[in-house]
Amino acid sequence: MALKVLVTGGAGFIGSNFIRHLLRTYPGYTVVNLDKLTYAGNLANLADVDSNPNYRFQKGDICDPGHAEAALRDGVDAVVHFAAESHVDRSIADARVFVETNIQGTYTLLDLARRTGVSRFVHVSTDEVYGSLAPDQVADEAWPLAPNSPYAASKAAADLLARSFWHTYSFPVIITRSSNNYGPHQFPEKLIPLMITHALEGNKLPVYGDGMNERDWIFVEDNCRALDRVLHAGRPGETYNVGSGEPVSNLALIRSLLRILGGSGVQIEFVADRPGHDRRYALDAGKVARALGWKPEVSLEKGLTRTVEWYRTHPEWVQNALSGEYRDYYEKFYVHRRASLARI
Ligand code: NAD
Ligand code: DAU
Repeated sequence: MALKVLVTGGAGFIGSNFIRHLLRTYPGYTVVNLDKLTYAGNLANLADVDSNPNYRFQKGDICDPGHAEAALRDGVDAVVHFAAESHVDRSIADARVFVETNIQGTYTLLDLARRTGVSRFVHVSTDEVYGSLAPDQVADEAWPLAPNSPYAASKAAADLLARSFWHTYSFPVIITRSSNNYGPHQFPEKLIPLMITHALEGNKLPVYGDGMNERDWIFVEDNCRALDRVLHAGRPGETYNVGSGEPVSNLALIRSLLRILGGSGVQIEFVADRPGHDRRYALDAGKVARALGWKPEVSLEKGLTRTVEWYRTHPEWVQNALSGEYRDYYEKFYVHRRASLARI
């Protein structure tokens, strides 16, 4: 059956990769992308699908019931909810918008999706809700939630709201908690694209603290395949961890990147630590493997090589992201092009 899928936050990193995955994998599906276009939303991420007649962009805020309702109008079958403030450092500087978007926005969307009869709601959560783990610990889906940053706390709140909609209203919510994604189109404020773009420009690489914090990295296309499995075969009310199960330290990761980049003379600089910096994330993703037959296909070495290659060959995207010029894309290209395109 051909689905109509509402993707929120589709102009961001994972959302744009997921929309491309859906349109490529299911040519009969219709995809509506509701995105506010914050600093993290970049429509150039979707330039290659812009003229696909099965794709429609709607600029809007998930916190605004009018915007959310307009996007849900005309029979949306499923929602995949990515829209969020996603950067931990920004949440430490000022958490207000995290509370608004991640908690109130998620509530607004859940409420309207339930009222309009959406038959599946995939809520994209994060492994950060489990907090920092000891060296011998691995979190499965029953692990207690102990979020440490304002970002993680806002995601945990959203995650629990989503859970409550299943338990209270039998609204078919499914939650994914994935580990650190990396790959093409990631805004260069996050570790991997920041290190690559700094290295390509010959700048120092700022490592927080002692660099021994560990993260469980997953190539974004692997997460998109997991989300596809969850969307089509996940059980309502369930939560699925999505990760590689192989945490690595930030220093080891950066050294791999430098080897792949092949540059010499780039310097690591140890800088002040992130306040409340989580030491280690480690996920048990056995449930999604057993229940839905998903496992990661892209090794860290291959994924990092593809990612470095993408940033190397997209200097214009990088330049626009760093200068903020991408923010004009909507007005300059989309509004004008849209007027001349037949839309769904
Ligand atoms: P991102 O920051 O790249 O993109 C977020 C998108 O949401 C942007 O396009 C932005 O414009 C949009 N947005 C923000 N506020 C909005 C609002 N009020 N209304 C509508 N749109 C809004 O994020 P990402 O890294 O692609 O992450 C996507 C989701 O996955 C988030 O929910 C995040 O918490 C979760 N997640 C991310 C990772 C990761 O490693 N990046 C890992 C696990 C979970
Ligand atoms: O674990 C999933 C989470 O991963 C997602 O929910 C978040 O949206 C996503 O931002 C990410 O959070 P992290 O805080 O783990 O990612 P970040 O890229 O900000 O940092 C990764 C690690 O690298 C962390 O230990 C902090 C460190 N770091 C980060 C930056 C930006 C540095 O040492 N230097 C840096 O400049």
